[in-house]
Amino acid sequence: MPKKPAQATWGGRFAAGPTALMQRFSESVSFDRRLAPFDIVGSQAHAAMLARVGLLTAREHAAIHAGLDAIGAQIDAGKFPWELSLEDVHMNIESALTRRVPAAAKLHTARSRNDQVATDMRLWFKHACAVLADKIRHAQRALLATAEAHREVLIPGYTHLQRAQPVFLAHHVFAWLEMLDRDRRRLAEVAAHANACPLGSGAIAGTTLPIDREFTARLLGFVDANGRPQVTQNSMDAVADRDVFIEFAAACALFGAHLSRIAEDLILWSSAEFGFVELPDAFCTGSSLMPQKKNPDSCELLRGKSARLQGNLQTLLTLVKGLPLTYNRDLQEDKPPVFDSFDQATLCADVLAGTVTGLKVNTGRCAAAVADPALLATDLADYLVTRAVAFRDAHHAVGAVVKLAEKAGLPLNQLPLAEVKKVHPAFGADWTQVFNLKRALARRTGTGMPGPKQVARQFARWKKLLR
Ligand code: ARG
Repeated sequence: MPKKPAQATWGGRFAAGPTALMQRFSESVSFDRRLAPFDIVGSQAHAAMLARVGLLTAREHAAIHAGLDAIGAQIDAGKFPWELSLEDVHMNIESALTRRVPAAAKLHTARSRNDQVATDMRLWFKHACAVLADKIRHAQRALLATAEAHREVLIPGYTHLQRAQPVFLAHHVFAWLEMLDRDRRRLAEVAAHANACPLGSGAIAGTTLPIDREFTARLLGFVDANGRPQVTQNSMDAVADRDVFIEFAAACALFGAHLSRIAEDLILWSSAEFGFVELPDAFCTGSSLMPQKKNPDSCELLRGKSARLQGNLQTLLTLVKGLPLTYNRDLQEDKPPVFDSFDQATLCADVLAGTVTGLKVNTGRCAAAVADPALLATDLADYLVTRAVAFRDAHHAVGAVVKLAEKAGLPLNQLPLAEVKKVHPAFGADWTQVFNLKRALARRTGTGMPGPKQVARQFARWKKLLR
């Protein structure tokens, strides 16, 4: 019997254990302990498979399974003695199990931490994608409710941050819903990519033992729509691959970019210059110096967090770039960025929901902003088109009319017909009807347009989608 090893799980060939500094440097249990529930079910499935192929007796399997359940309960209760010296979540759980259950010494048969951690993380990604997508759905519902509470409100839509054309506030909110819906679909894709079991890849080259990878995969829910097990197809790729990490971080980064744009709209709208909305006190803060200030902090932080989410993606891309196959310890650094992206993205989704739920809309300011007849200059060009003027000529003519109005200091629709006719003979006595806002919106009937019929359709669609 060799003397007691310097490190319980891998110390056989070592004369001394790592120094305290090295332990502190190389431990990951401070952040990967959150994988414990996934590590435990992964080990239980692995043990079940070992029993099935005759590498564990039924008794050993039962003891391991029950021991892992007990450790899971201890962890849930906050009573598990996590030890930095045991490096990571895998070795903490394995050595605790070995103390309870002698048969646990057989649990790591035909398994390496390399395929183990890859499996834990794939299980985690499937869970994380579902949780985040659900939070996003919750935020979408809050946005939908806000749109619904202000169904009739019109605002200017902007391009170049200049007033462009009138739209229903709801139509603007629906644009946000589309962005967030793509985020949810993207997360579903990431979860689908995570859905293959790496167990059985071993450290790099599988195992000589007669394991049943498909059995383990099925137990862990790595199955396709027809319930067929899905396993990774190359043992080297399976332990080196971090694509799902990057895809998840990318999905979060893009979600963050969307949040940032939504937040920026709200920040602008809540400024005195726009005055379209007032943000809820509960999501704003004051100034320590200027007593009158109410700052849109939740929105500014949503905007700021997006930088962090992008940074996490960059960290992961840099981590794998140029890394030789297969596993390298560098890869331990893959977890903090994805955990952070998940934590921050879920928090952001909740904060967005909270912020819009308390939103007050200043209908007077919205109505005033949308009242400028110049916002319907394009409709005026369309009017000329219906009178057989080529659009380029119509555009030019309306431009000249806008210039006239500016020079005369008059709203566009107050110019005398005679003046307008001098610009283009196709203008008729009915030319000012174009400036009826209601009529202008009602004419926008095509799918995706901001007309009232389409907006009603979108309300119905979103209510169904977000049920
Ligand atoms: N804590 C390690 C990680 O996250 C687990 C895999 C360790 N593998 C190894 N060969 N040291 O990467």
